[in-house]
Amino acid sequence: MTAPFNHSAPDIDRITGRRRLRRNRRTDWSRRLMREHTLTVDDLIWPVFVVDGENVRTPVPSMPGVERLSVDQIVVEARRAAALGIPVMALFPYTDPARRDEHGTEALSPSNLVCEACRAIKAEVPNLGVMIDVALDPYTSHGHDGLMQGEEIVNDITVQQLIRQALNEAEAGCDIISPSDMMDGRIGAIREALDDAGFGHVQIMAYSAKYASAYYGPFREAVGTSATLVGDKRTYQMDPANTDEALREAELDVAEGADMLMVKPGIAYLDILYRVKEAFGMPTYAYQVSGEYAMIMAAAQNGWVDEERIIMETLLAFKRAGADGILTYFAPRVAEKLKAGH
Ligand code: PBG
Repeated sequence: MTAPFNHSAPDIDRITGRRRLRRNRRTDWSRRLMREHTLTVDDLIWPVFVVDGENVRTPVPSMPGVERLSVDQIVVEARRAAALGIPVMALFPYTDPARRDEHGTEALSPSNLVCEACRAIKAEVPNLGVMIDVALDPYTSHGHDGLMQGEEIVNDITVQQLIRQALNEAEAGCDIISPSDMMDGRIGAIREALDDAGFGHVQIMAYSAKYASAYYGPFREAVGTSATLVGDKRTYQMDPANTDEALREAELDVAEGADMLMVKPGIAYLDILYRVKEAFGMPTYAYQVSGEYAMIMAAAQNGWVDEERIIMETLLAFKRAGADGILTYFAPRVAEKLKAGH
């Protein structure tokens, strides 16, 4: 037998002190036994898009596999979610442009798409949690989350409108109100208003550290704001360069009464997720946003990455970084995969 190399074998036992980490990785059962983090169906929140009409399913071009659904189809998917054991569905509307105005008035309508969808789910699938955003962007003609005076997004007047939006959603039976607008003081103001109106049981998931991100592009196509958005959201969403500021945002939300915190986007902000979870020990969630979904699907459709494995690996990364759950458009297929036991 010829030696593979012409130098003598190094004494690896001496180098490692006989500590050999590969021993635990040799077999599948052992790898399973060593596993520190797991993803379960209980970790999943499924964001869906609601659209007018009946029996409507319109594909979102930049999110292959994702469709806008009319309320009856939302109920079909809600039944599927509940059967799979997914705890929560998050509802986002595609509002008819004719019903958008500069004040986001449609956000206050008891018959807007998310309220209709929420009531329908609560009637048909009562054990599925329903979560709805508080932010005006799907309802404003200018596409901003807040109200505009000239070029400014005005904070305190916006908060008044957000309070009314939150109460409207709570009246429709929403379980988790999730302010994604990034105005100052909105968590405390909404908490107080909910409590005063008898909605003390309604939970608040604060989009605490929400960054001004290019990863939201496909979402804006899905809710129809990409074409109309005036300028950008950098005066209220966070600068991607900052970390400590995320902790200050989270600290205020905790103090103002948030029940849960969220970090968004996901995979590019795992450091933020880790620090927020470490600092507050709150139930903390990651949002694997539309652009992350689109990037995975685009690469997978080109055959450049293994779709299934990339999805599971990214979701596990959120768990490793400390997430108690993940909002992901992959939720139903992941739930199916977990149910099948592989
Ligand atoms: C609205 C909102 C956005 C997302 C969730 N809520 C977009 C934005 O702030 O422009 C993005 C979700 C995604 O990209 O999947 N305030």
